Amino acid sequence: MQRIFSGIQPSGIPTLGNYLGAIRNWVALQADHDCIYCVVDLHAITVWQEPKLLVQQTRELAASIIACGIDPARSILFHQSAVPEHAELAWIFNCVARLGWLNRMTQFKDKAGKDRENASAGLYVYPNLMAADILAYHATRVPVGDDQRQHLELANDIAQKFNHDYGVEFFPVIEALILGPAARVMSLRDGTKKMSKSDPSDQSRINLNDSADTIAQKIRRARTDPEPLPTEPAGLAGRAEARNLVGIYAALADTDEEDVLRLHGGKGFSSFKEELAALLVESLGPIAQKTRDLLSEPDHIDQVLHEGAARAASICRPIVSKTKQIVGFLPT
Ligand code: AMP
Ligand code: TRP
Repeated sequence: MQRIFSGIQPSGIPTLGNYLGAIRNWVALQADHDCIYCVVDLHAITVWQEPKLLVQQTRELAASIIACGIDPARSILFHQSAVPEHAELAWIFNCVARLGWLNRMTQFKDKAGKDRENASAGLYVYPNLMAADILAYHATRVPVGDDQRQHLELANDIAQKFNHDYGVEFFPVIEALILGPAARVMSLRDGTKKMSKSDPSDQSRINLNDSADTIAQKIRRARTDPEPLPTEPAGLAGRAEARNLVGIYAALADTDEEDVLRLHGGKGFSSFKEELAALLVESLGPIAQKTRDLLSEPDHIDQVLHEGAARAASICRPIVSKTKQIVGFLPT
């Protein structure tokens, strides 16, 4: 069975983008993979996080992941900081990755913005920690949204350089699993920007804990153009907002753009938006309810994460220990 690893940052409430681009695929992969899912708190602090909020968001995210259908008895679910091997292997990878490689990372450029001198050093080496997350488990398949493609290419470059420099066949090749018609969900206010937990405008995203009324209101106000929906996918060219709403609909209805346009092509946005909102409420309503139920027992969530961390550590400890031996560290 192939091993899956994926992660998500506890930097806010998970969004529809996280759900359709990642978590929903994680759930499906549980059926025939050995899965490890991680709440990546070490990654979250590459930008400022209020400590009290970070604790709360870590628990809430874990509850939300379980509510989406991750079964902690079958898959491993844990928080990254509980397994120190991640940070340890990341340091070794800091010494393998080249500055030239990191300089090409578009996410760093986006997140650091204009004031690059003031970005944390952690934000710069963020992809090395992500490579360590995956390779510490010798995981071979990584389900992510489209925005993580470049980071996974870098992880493969690190694995190959390590193997080459030390003359070993130790780290495997990683395959990115970028699945479904909504691997890149865009902001509801601007079809050229991705939907993000950290966007200052709450109207730009659907949060997994939004009420039915809030979902309907956000979809009603979502930016669109004045034309009706086209009857085939070619007609979505140059219409980023329309494409986004059609992609979301297709993902939720388990179909594709073509099929959605066969049914809804020619309609104006107001009726399409109503149907889309109904579909969203039907899919996300039960998840929000289950998350609330789970959060009424925070100790249970903490226990799930701690048990997950112990299982995760038992897999990665021998791999990181072997890595240290390959590098030439004296055994402890
Ligand atoms: P993050 O919220 O950055 O920790 O992302 C966690 C996972 O959700 C990653 O696999 C991302 O690629 C995915 N993801 C985040 N935002 C989106 C989006 N707008 N559309 C699709 N996938 C996304
Ligand atoms: N960088 C990813 C994101 O923000 C989260 C992440 C951290 C991750 N470690 C990972 C994803 C390992 C996949 C595998 O979306």
